[in-house]
Amino acid sequence: MGLESSVPHLRKMQLSDVDQVVNVHLSSFQGFFLTFLGPRFLSLLYGYLVSSAHGVGYVSLDHGDEIVGFVCGSTQPAGFYRTFFKNQWRRIMLATLWPLICRPSIGPRLLRAVLYPPQASTAQGTATLMSIAVLPERQNKGIGKMLVQEFLIEMQRKGAQQVNLTTDKENNDSVNVFYRRLGFQLVRSFATPEGRWMNEYAISLGRGAGGQGSRGAGETGRGGAEEMG
Ligand SMILES: CC(C)(COP(=O)(O)OP(=O)(O)OC[C@H]1O[C@@H](n2cnc3c(N)ncnc32)[C@H](O)[C@@H]1OP(=O)(O)O)[C@@H](O)C(=O)NCCC(=O)NCCS
Repeated sequence: MGLESSVPHLRKMQLSDVDQVVNVHLSSFQGFFLTFLGPRFLSLLYGYLVSSAHGVGYVSLDHGDEIVGFVCGSTQPAGFYRTFFKNQWRRIMLATLWPLICRPSIGPRLLRAVLYPPQASTAQGTATLMSIAVLPERQNKGIGKMLVQEFLIEMQRKGAQQVNLTTDKENNDSVNVFYRRLGFQLVRSFATPEGRWMNEYAISLGRGAGGQGSRGAGETGRGGAEEMG
């Protein structure tokens, strides 16, 4: 196998990628709430996002077209989860029935997510990076960075002026360093109703989005970015 064939390449995420994207999510987000909701729920969620007119997603493919990483988000994050739950509630109930029977403790959090979905920034021109993951064995090789840069360029092309995201504040140094190195700036820290401390980051899409020219936003609209972790 030549060196060239082992260099991953990027392309836009398609509906047919969802199964592989779910596998990457399950491998990379072990112990996270959405992972506990199971592959059927994740397929619905990523399928809904990729089919949405506001969804933006990229996948990184290895030789043999295996998906080794992905990034996705929305140009209109406000109300994303509300619409998702409203339009897909029957399928969501079916998809989460078994995970709920196996792990009843996730019930209250799921209920909160349905009744009080995370409030994304409503600031005009603010897009959200909702999820990014690279297969554990392929991390620290520059794939995540390439995915974010391509994502930011596409968001800028679609007219977004800034992109925000949330990530765990505690026990998550590597991911916080990852975003800071890409030019994201900390906007605020906040606790979820479960007492989970989160950091909200933003980057403004000035000249040269995704590259050296990107500048941290310093401020964002009210509310926090929605996250899929
Ligand atoms: C976060 C994640 C997507 C990063 O992808 P990746 O392919 O491993 O990251 P890259 O190799 O592109 O790293 C990009 C930059 O971050 C830095 N970085 C990455 N991991 C790091 C670590 N553990 N410690 C310090 N810096 C790190 C790299 O040094 C690099 O900086 P540089 O270009 O200045 O050298 C990946 O680790 C992952 O999937 N994690 C699990 C899922 C997750 O937590 N997602 C984020 C949820 S908000």
